[in-house]
Amino acid sequence: MKLVYFVLFSVLSRATSLIIKRPNVLLIMLDDLRPAINAFGDPKAITPNIDKLIKKGYYFTNVFAQQSICAPSRNSLLTGRRPDTIRLYDFYSYWREFASNFTTIPQYFKQNGYITHSIGKIFHPGVSSNYTDDYPLSWSNVPYHPSTEKYMNEPVCIDIPTGKLKKNLLCPVDLELQPENTLPDIQSTLAAKDFLQQRQNKTREPFLLAVGYHKPHIPFKFPSKYLKMHRTSKFRNQDPDYPPYGLPTVAWNSYLDVRSRDDVIALNISYPFGPIRDEMKLKIRQHYYAAVTYVDDLIGQLFEDVDFSNTIVILTSDHGWSLGEHAEWSKFSNYDVALKVPLIVYSPDIKTVPNNKIDKVVELLDIFPTLVDIAGLPPVTSCRDRIKAETCVEGKSLLSYITDPTCNDHPEEAFSQYPRPGTYPSVHPNSDKPKLYQITIMGYSIRTKQYRYTAWIGFDPSKFTRDWTKLYGEELYDHSIDPNENMNLAERPQLLEIKEHLNLRLQMKFC
Ligand SMILES: *[C@@H]1O[C@H](CO)[C@@H](O)[C@H](O)[C@H]1NC(C)=O
Ligand SMILES: *[C@@H]1O[C@H](CO)[C@@H](O)[C@H](O)[C@H]1NC(C)=O
Ligand SMILES: *[C@@H]1O[C@H](CO)[C@@H](O)[C@H](O)[C@H]1NC(C)=O
Ligand SMILES: *[C@@H]1O[C@H](CO)[C@@H](O)[C@H](O)[C@H]1NC(C)=O
Repeated sequence: MKLVYFVLFSVLSRATSLIIKRPNVLLIMLDDLRPAINAFGDPKAITPNIDKLIKKGYYFTNVFAQQSICAPSRNSLLTGRRPDTIRLYDFYSYWREFASNFTTIPQYFKQNGYITHSIGKIFHPGVSSNYTDDYPLSWSNVPYHPSTEKYMNEPVCIDIPTGKLKKNLLCPVDLELQPENTLPDIQSTLAAKDFLQQRQNKTREPFLLAVGYHKPHIPFKFPSKYLKMHRTSKFRNQDPDYPPYGLPTVAWNSYLDVRSRDDVIALNISYPFGPIRDEMKLKIRQHYYAAVTYVDDLIGQLFEDVDFSNTIVILTSDHGWSLGEHAEWSKFSNYDVALKVPLIVYSPDIKTVPNNKIDKVVELLDIFPTLVDIAGLPPVTSCRDRIKAETCVEGKSLLSYITDPTCNDHPEEAFSQYPRPGTYPSVHPNSDKPKLYQITIMGYSIRTKQYRYTAWIGFDPSKFTRDWTKLYGEELYDHSIDPNENMNLAERPQLLEIKEHLNLRLQMKFC
């Protein structure tokens, strides 16, 4: 009897695996991309290829990263856990050895019969992914890295006044004069096209291909033709060029990464508050948008080899980037501009409706369960009271938001955090990028539909404990009257009740 069951079971399971051909997955990650995308409603952006993907699928306009810095955000997204759970706020630990053996998105797909492959920057390289991009647990074969990645911070930019090669922030280039006559994102696109051409016709296992682009991360290095598509004059704006009224100094990001480039050093910008001269501000914005157009063009080339009839496509970024809002540049803060990212979801199995814009407040953490849900894999359980489980997620599936626009399943809240070594910006220790042992303060932030509230509180990096009684600063922004977060209302007595409520929500989340 047992034997019969066994035979029957194996025949049945083999039959089902033949019948259910799962869709392929293409996960595209950009580096430091805020929603500077035309179809997201940014008229300055030139992004025809990403726009086309948006027309085919769904796009989320209120998506927030868990920390506005690369390695913590990526490891959080890829494991579906908060930075506090993977215990990563800097670049210097590997969660499997430092926190717990948490399952990643590609690993889960691999366990469910997918071939998984990483091209370019998906995990942040180095210690935080064990120097292997978490291969072999996450990937079926050795991750691909473009050979020209090693010139990332080399002096390869032609300095206009002197003609010398410098490590500039603004770095439009001529490919013929670059090492190996190419750039990392161009190489990654070719490798990805190659993978798609090789795999697409194979009917056996589905694949998850993750393609990580380096741009628009600084330096703004891209073929100079993209710069010509963007005139500097369109980047004039009326942004206040000073820190928001009532901003606690602990909140300030002093953009040390931008300041360390040769062309910015030459400007002698005062530390820590700047400002940067108007002419340079326009150029930084122009170069950022040109870098986005460059990546968009490469994504268009990649799409030529994507079979959209059986491939799920997700496009997102690790966090945003300030382009002079509040007189800040770069990331390293708890502002919307540093945390908000684009998220586009396309599935061949989901019909697109004319209103494909979803403005619910959601988190990058939600990508793991959403992708699993859309691909039809066994759902991953929510971590709730079993945070140490190997496979669980702290986010939620967004599929119901896509299939039912009236859906109100979840409270609209996004939680983020940012660490600091002290209350005043500093170069040593680097207050934009403190190392774990230097952290004494954590800024916990909650974003609802109407408000952003941030509490900068005591943090002990040796015990990973919080002290909610030690308050170093508070911020409260009301998006219904101040969408750019220029007025800190934390001291307004009329808003005390709202502030206390949001503070309580934070304490419940990060107890
Ligand atoms: C981590 O999890 C993977 C997959 O379940 C397993 O193969 C590996 O042995 C685990 N490692 C440790 C140290 O537990
Ligand atoms: C991390 O790398 C070390 C050194 O190469 C290796 O011994 C260890 O097994 C790796 N850890 C995991 C979980 O793969
Ligand atoms: C895959 O199939 C397409 C047509 O469906 C064909 O043009 C292409 O050459 C095939 N590629 C490989 C590697 O077999
Ligand atoms: C740089 O700026 C400071 C004041 O902010 C000034 O004292 C100094 O002379 C400047 N240096 C140069 C080389 O312009």
